[in-house]
Amino acid sequence: MSAQAEIFNLRDLLRKAEYAYYVLDQPLYSDSEYDQMLTALQTLEVEHPELVSFDSPTQRVGGVPSEKFVRVEHRVPMLSLGNVQTDEELDEFDGRVRKLLELTDSQTVEYICEPKLDGLAVELVYQGGAFIKGSTRGDGIWGEDITVNLKTVGQVGANAGIPHQLKGRPPQNIEVRGEIFLQRKHFDALNRQMERQGKAPFANPRNGAAGSLRQLDWRITATRPLSFIPYQALVTVGEFWETHWEKLEALAAYGFAINPENRSCAGLDEVKRYRDTMASRRFDLDYDTDGVVVKVNLLDWQKRLGFASKNPRWAVAFKYPPQEQVTLVRDIWASVGRTGVLTPVVEVEPVQLSGAVISRATINNEDELRRKDVRIGDHVLIRRAGEVIPEVIKSIPERRTGIERMFIFPEHCPICQAKVIREEGSKFHYCTGVNCPAQLVGRLTHFAQRRAMDIDGLGEKLAHQLVESKRVKNVADLYQMTFEDWLSLERMATKSARNITDAVERSKDTTFKRLLYGLGIPEVGEATAATLARHFDDIERLAEATEEGLMQVRDIGPESARAIRAWFDEPQNREMVSRLISLGITPKLEPQAVGGEFAGKTVVLTGTLSRYSREEAKAEIERRGGKVSGSVSRKTAYVIAGEDAGTKLTKARALGVKIIDQAAFVALLG
Ligand code: IVH
Repeated sequence: MSAQAEIFNLRDLLRKAEYAYYVLDQPLYSDSEYDQMLTALQTLEVEHPELVSFDSPTQRVGGVPSEKFVRVEHRVPMLSLGNVQTDEELDEFDGRVRKLLELTDSQTVEYICEPKLDGLAVELVYQGGAFIKGSTRGDGIWGEDITVNLKTVGQVGANAGIPHQLKGRPPQNIEVRGEIFLQRKHFDALNRQMERQGKAPFANPRNGAAGSLRQLDWRITATRPLSFIPYQALVTVGEFWETHWEKLEALAAYGFAINPENRSCAGLDEVKRYRDTMASRRFDLDYDTDGVVVKVNLLDWQKRLGFASKNPRWAVAFKYPPQEQVTLVRDIWASVGRTGVLTPVVEVEPVQLSGAVISRATINNEDELRRKDVRIGDHVLIRRAGEVIPEVIKSIPERRTGIERMFIFPEHCPICQAKVIREEGSKFHYCTGVNCPAQLVGRLTHFAQRRAMDIDGLGEKLAHQLVESKRVKNVADLYQMTFEDWLSLERMATKSARNITDAVERSKDTTFKRLLYGLGIPEVGEATAATLARHFDDIERLAEATEEGLMQVRDIGPESARAIRAWFDEPQNREMVSRLISLGITPKLEPQAVGGEFAGKTVVLTGTLSRYSREEAKAEIERRGGKVSGSVSRKTAYVIAGEDAGTKLTKARALGVKIIDQAAFVALLG
């Protein structure tokens, strides 16, 4: 392809990508693919300056105002931030700032660091304190007039909103810029609602926020719990603040919610520490962030630094590795879990996601596979939040070439060849094989995991070996394995055989709760196992309980009661339990709640405690009859705040909930 043809081609692709992203709120490419195309175009244009045109995507900030809305011109263009991704690039930014300001080595630059909210930028114009016009960024010069929609922001629920009238004594003319976003929990709820209505769900909270805001009918926007957080303000006459921080404080006084995570950092080392803390807490926040923004605090210095063509020289965005990528589906197959459920596994072209190389993603069941219409050979958007396995968000049919193939669920189990069924009303395909090795491997690893019987060293690989060599047909067989039996397994060294023999022996001394959880009874997760263990003194009494009896137990519903009863009605399961007991498993009861300060109270943990892990702290509270919850409300009795506590602490303060530190917590435990 000639350079000219390539340039035209890239421009066309980029324009389509921008239209899909900014106007339709449905991305076609991942950010990194987009960036790659843009960089390729930039490089070509540098090599061929005669081919540069004013409307090339390289000449714009990105974004296209939609025809649907009235256009508004921003008084001052809305620029974007330069991105950095490494320490070196951050050092370079700081070096440039210092050089341009001609600072000496003894002078430190104070930076304000803010989470980079992953939503969409808007501008709010206030005159005499009244909100008169609001717009999207659009192409940076022209935005879309969405004033009426913006007036609804913050009207649903207790979200950070847009004041219609500013409090205090705001300047006569002020433009407030900030981010509109959807909290993750609201995004999940919105997507469930979209699905119930048979509409295509949003790919991520950012698209959800953009799609909700850019509605022609403001009444739809009004039902969406959007939030607004400002990060910038412009005035026409006399800037009367000296620092960015003061400006943010003024915005708070005018009635805006300022991000409680914002910090002032003296020098670059503190900036880096802030960035590391935020990166590690990224998934604990209830909204999406894609980096941190670093801004020179002194406004006078900001003015002196000024702007480069597209970005300010006084600020930079440190971007996290992406959470989302577009990649290619190489294959789809069905994996069989311990309960016999077949789950589609989507093998993808390996990509970097939140800092890890990902080659597999999940889709829960056939309906989801059909709804998302994911085919072998498709481009798909995958997303990974926190530790979890990435999920296929959607396929991108616009990128199909015609060679894609549908995945058909197998009629027979790929592992044991037994018939696969999907019952009426069920979402799942099941393998009907009672002795299916895949299920057995899953059951063994579930039984052995740390939170169940805690048999150190018994992972998936060893479980496979045990099943394949036909040594173990159910978990009770583990306790009949001798040292020699372990040693006879392929590639098993003496030391490992000794360790695993000991680990199995040690696991006999366990609690009722752990055993119950380890058995893998459908519907019985860790919490239910704990509840059942507290209610029934031993497994024999539980095995005898009727459905009605089970439903008397707090938190056990009809579905769980039925599943538990059915499990114990199966003679093979009863026999296995008896064998476990006769082989020396002696489940003890958890020590009864000892009462005290936590009994009957709801407690929230936030930040890091040095003396306890989250799990340990939770166990201690529960042992004393308390309940640990993930979010702060008026009903919260205590918030236990460790190091680097974040929004939960802020919320606790706002609600007047009692806050205690580690020392006080330890004292209360007695
Ligand atoms: S400051 C001159 N602060 O990131 C630009 N931006 O590429 C000043 N963003 O369009 C922007 N959180 O949508 C700033 N705390 C924050 C931000 C933030 C998110 C977005 C914003 C902007 C883009 C920059």
